[in-house]
Amino acid sequence: MDLQLDGNTALVMAASKGIGREIATQLAAEGAHVAISSRSRENLEAAREYIVETAGVGPDVVTLVPCDLSDPDAIRPAVENAIDELGGLDHLITNHGGTTPKRFNEATIEEFDEQYTSILKSTIIVIKAALPALEASSGSMTHIVAATALEPPEGLIFTSTIRSGIFGLSKSIANEHAADGIRSNCVCPRSVHTGRIESKTEMIAERDDVPFDELMQERKDALPVGRLGSPEEFARTATYVASPAAGFLTGTVVPVDGGWSRKAF
Ligand SMILES: NC(=O)c1ccc[n+]([C@@H]2O[C@H](COP(=O)([O-])OP(=O)(O)OC[C@H]3O[C@@H](n4cnc5c(N)ncnc54)[C@H](OP(=O)(O)O)[C@@H]3O)[C@@H](O)[C@H]2O)c1
Repeated sequence: MDLQLDGNTALVMAASKGIGREIATQLAAEGAHVAISSRSRENLEAAREYIVETAGVGPDVVTLVPCDLSDPDAIRPAVENAIDELGGLDHLITNHGGTTPKRFNEATIEEFDEQYTSILKSTIIVIKAALPALEASSGSMTHIVAATALEPPEGLIFTSTIRSGIFGLSKSIANEHAADGIRSNCVCPRSVHTGRIESKTEMIAERDDVPFDELMQERKDALPVGRLGSPEEFARTATYVASPAAGFLTGTVVPVDGGWSRKAF
């Protein structure tokens, strides 16, 4: 299938590692010029090397845009700089560093504020900054959220409350900007094997005083497929959803979770 990405431009937030880096890699492999963003220029340089090697593209295809999503003032200039460097924008992929696993009773109001700023407010600012360019290109937005925001388990209060706001944000934009040709969708991972899965499992192991290996096994057992997903598997779906080949897909939520979400619809 031709994803019709050749010659397109894409900005991928939180893309120096894991899921974001893999989406940027696949977009580049399909012929897009990508801008990748994260807090660390050093990590972005390493990601560019990975993308160049894995996607078989030249280094000029990958633009680096350092930006800390927890700093609201830094976001608009970074997004505008990315769009200038790319010469426009066809596809925006919003993504984050993730939430801290906490139960409601453990979470302070200050932490709610911090997580709101770095997850939901940052997404709103990224979209505000990118919207004029996406209107000009009739482009797409693809938001990386979390399957746990669809079916909140215990101990992930920030995902259940703050991340889930991205669903409503995406749906509203899909409705309000369909006439501009803009599509907006969410893609939801669960247990995709990245560095974050390792570190988050370590955090929960420490918090709950449970052995790491036991938690990892529980994680696999909770998936009907019985194994973790790979970043490449996840990114293939996200890249398709972002691409013009998915032109009739908008305002929806796509879990990529090995069957973890149990609801029938
Ligand atoms: N993997 C899964 O199964 C899974 C499941 C549910 C939800 N998610 C969510 O999907 C997102 C990506 O997860 P992942 O597994 O790919 O994580 P990852 O491998 O840890 O990658 C996280 C990325 O976020 C960047 N980042 C962290 N804090 C940032 C900040 N304040 N501003 C800008 N960039 C920042 C990191 O780059 P720097 O360190 O260079 O800044 C890195 O590139 C996360 O929000 C995660 O919670 C993942």
